[in-house]
Amino acid sequence: MAAALPRLATRPRAIVRAVHVLASIGWFGLVVVMLVLSAAALTTDGGPSPHFPYQLMDQIASPMIPITAVATLVTGVALSVATPWGLLRHWWIVVKLVLTLAVIMTGASLTGSWILQASAGPTTPARWLLVGGAAVHLLMLASAMIISVDKPWGRISRSRKPRGRPLPQYGNISAR
Ligand code: HEM
Repeated sequence: MAAALPRLATRPRAIVRAVHVLASIGWFGLVVVMLVLSAAALTTDGGPSPHFPYQLMDQIASPMIPITAVATLVTGVALSVATPWGLLRHWWIVVKLVLTLAVIMTGASLTGSWILQASAGPTTPARWLLVGGAAVHLLMLASAMIISVDKPWGRISRSRKPRGRPLPQYGNISAR
């Protein structure tokens, strides 16, 4: 049988949760900046420094976004496994995990090469892909944010009844 993981006490849990919320807000804000810069770059017709928005985006895409994304993921997983929420016990957490991993993987695999292509020429589709990619990522992060506050869908039901102690009631979604 797997050993039970230690539970976070109230104070450390509040600190980890604060870091989690700050990291996720920081991540969201940086993606907003990516959207604004990629959209602004579409409307600058060459100009004196046509590559400037893409240089800024390059700085934000690495390392600023990876730092906030990994901090969100690590603190989120810590808050799940070290509290009664559990990592795979509630739908709202599993959906957030999938959204988070999807944004991280698509961002890591696509954004850098799109920035390179976009700064190489004004007619490349990568310029539009950067705008669309940032918009889709924003929608996904906003969904994760709303899900976090609402905590919808309840527990993941198991076919086997647990032995021993009954599962804690999923009543008013607090899992405290
Ligand atoms: C972009 C991704 C994410 C965003 C925007 C986000 C946002 C938030 C926010 C705003 C809260 C505070 C909710 C409240 O106190 O009512 C929260 C709590 C929480 N998040 Fe996330 N989160 C994200 C990703 C994750 C991931 C990937 C996990 C786990 C795999 C996770 C697990 C949790 C848990 C367990 C709590 C509750 C903490 C507690 O009750 O002490 N989050 N999240």
